[in-house]
Amino acid sequence: MSKESHGFTTTAIHGHSIKDANGALITPIYNTSTFVFDSTAQGAARFALEEPGYIYARLGNPTCTAVEETLAKLEGGEAALITVSGMGAITATIWTCISAGEEIVADKTLYGCTFEFFEHHLSRFGVKVHFIEMTNEDELRAALSDKTRIVYLETPANPNLKITDIEKTAKIAHDYNPAIKVICDNTFCSPYIQRPLELGADIVIHSATKYLNGHGDLLAGVVVSDAETINNIRLIGIKDMTGAFMPANEAYLVDRGLKTLEIRMQRHCDSAMKVAQYLKTCDKVEKVYYPGLEDHEGHEIAKRQMHGMYGGMVSFVVKGGRAKAAVVADSVKVATLAVSLGAAETLIEHPASMTHSPYTEEELETANIAPGLIRFSVGLENPEDIIADLEQAFAKI
Ligand SMILES: Cc1ncc(COP(=O)(O)O)c(C=O)c1O
Repeated sequence: MSKESHGFTTTAIHGHSIKDANGALITPIYNTSTFVFDSTAQGAARFALEEPGYIYARLGNPTCTAVEETLAKLEGGEAALITVSGMGAITATIWTCISAGEEIVADKTLYGCTFEFFEHHLSRFGVKVHFIEMTNEDELRAALSDKTRIVYLETPANPNLKITDIEKTAKIAHDYNPAIKVICDNTFCSPYIQRPLELGADIVIHSATKYLNGHGDLLAGVVVSDAETINNIRLIGIKDMTGAFMPANEAYLVDRGLKTLEIRMQRHCDSAMKVAQYLKTCDKVEKVYYPGLEDHEGHEIAKRQMHGMYGGMVSFVVKGGRAKAAVVADSVKVATLAVSLGAAETLIEHPASMTHSPYTEEELETANIAPGLIRFSVGLENPEDIIADLEQAFAKI
């Protein structure tokens, strides 16, 4: 049966070619560290990549291949590579695509550990990262140079949900030099909402810890791109530089999570819109960031590139700054005070003191991460309970 033109969930369920020899409906968990060769000649041929087949579980495993094939299709890429975590995906990709003396142009609003890796660690290896306001075309043009190898962005950005026009950014970068890799972290959207490769990005990265798995019970990551790029990341960034390939047990759970991604995302999006609309009416709230709100700065771009859905993340600034934001975060009862996102459980966190603590006070200000900003991952609970919970927490201020 051809699976190329099916809908999103049909692809999420049937999107791979792995068949179990015993006819199991579900791809088994191949708990093996290595694979048997018929002969030395066969082993040599596999190592030389002359014969297809598995070698060692740091490079691939049938349970993992099933998830990779499905994710490649869902993101509209030729191939995918799954990793132990989102940071595993990011570091393996960057180590593969950059060398000493080369440069990265990155948006200044990024997940805290990505920022820390770019700002404090890559510099030790002779890689310069220019942090810019990616929504500003002039800043992007001015930052590009013959040394630029990567343009890196998140949209919506973590934690303030800033929207960047992927198509425009990729065009500017590729007009300057078609070899520049435009990398988009699509964690906040999932491919159900946004497919950056279709908009001109070269590489898509996810923390699959979040929506792709969706159940808050593992760490996982994925990179999707053309087959050559994925092969390079597998052989360099994963095999030799990080060893960060995903174990089969995790792959099995991600495969299971993907089957309900569409229906989970629909619920996350519907509930997040309700929460955002409630927050707009709340007098304890100074500012609400949700791309689905018409007054969000990036709303028109989001409408286009996110297919009219806006995700499950809502951020808001509590009047009175950090101390008052802490009261809200400490007072919720249905929501849980924890970092991470994209789980069934609603999660609340304070970026300035948690996920974005690698930023200095000045860097937080430049990146528009206010001291009173709360990041709220709207879960799958009934939205009226989530809103009532926020209401009682605001009453504690
Ligand atoms: C946007 C984004 N990218 C990457 C990561 C890193 O993913 P992981 O925690 O799976 O390593 C996170 C984690 O929160 C994230 O929010």
